[in-house]
Amino acid sequence: MFLPDTQSFSADITAEFARLYPAAWARQAIPADELALLAQAAMGNGNQFRRFLKRRLHGDPVAYILGHVTFAGRRFTMDRRAYVTDPETVHLVGAVRQWASPRQGPLYAAEVGVGAGALAITLLLEVPDLRITGLELDDAAAALCRENAAHHGVALDVVESDLFAAWGDRPAPDLIYGDLPWGDDTTLYGQDRDADHYHRMPPTTAFPLSGRTGAHQDLIMAVRDRGWAAHILLNCGTLPDGDIADVVAAARDMQARLLSPAATARILHLFPL
Ligand SMILES: C[S@@+](CC[C@H](N)C(=O)[O-])C[C@H]1O[C@@H](n2cnc3c(N)ncnc32)[C@H](O)[C@@H]1O
Repeated sequence: MFLPDTQSFSADITAEFARLYPAAWARQAIPADELALLAQAAMGNGNQFRRFLKRRLHGDPVAYILGHVTFAGRRFTMDRRAYVTDPETVHLVGAVRQWASPRQGPLYAAEVGVGAGALAITLLLEVPDLRITGLELDDAAAALCRENAAHHGVALDVVESDLFAAWGDRPAPDLIYGDLPWGDDTTLYGQDRDADHYHRMPPTTAFPLSGRTGAHQDLIMAVRDRGWAAHILLNCGTLPDGDIADVVAAARDMQARLLSPAATARILHLFPL
């Protein structure tokens, strides 16, 4: 069997690219772990690897080039229809799991902004007696989410909806969680994903329409309008205390607890008094 020597094959072509496109390379050299993933996906095909490198130098996110993202040890199909799930949101999954563990099932949760479904599908596979409705503003992302749910064999209820507008006559959820758009070009996770990375995503995904916590505050108002007494877990990522205080102020009739499982994973837990 022919096994390509991925390392020397990729090193030669990478050196060729650094020589051919010095300005682009200086702007954003492709890190070794990404090169390894792209080379592996090219499977020894030099033309394909060159295409991958050129797309990456143009700023195309790695997950769109590979056609998948790995989240919590599982592979999910990923393409331009959806936001590329941030690895840090594994802490939101952990927070939901912790919330669920002492409670008796069955439990019913709503994920607002379900995107390609990596969080909800992970939870359905890992938390017994949990049902989830995933709400998504963008029809194309909802379609990809359904494909991922079918691939992983989970019964995820996916609804095209602006917040809870299309909730219909489903019962009130016990928990509402999500990684809704938050922040702006200055509140990034780290240097591996600059603001441009987020501007490559579908327009509804990364940043709120109003302020750095506008989507969180809209969600809280929508929950209040429905009179639901649900717990709420919201990813606030790297947002500073002042922004989180704005969300807490919007949730005026709820208790608030800030979870910080990592410096880049600030998760706000709101619950009824
Ligand atoms: C940061 S992305 C997270 C996606 C997914 N949870 C993930 O982690 O891969 C935010 C998602 O919320 C969706 N969204 C934004 N505003 C929304 C709204 N008002 N109602 C429902 N979904 C919304 C976006 O389309 C996007 O898919």
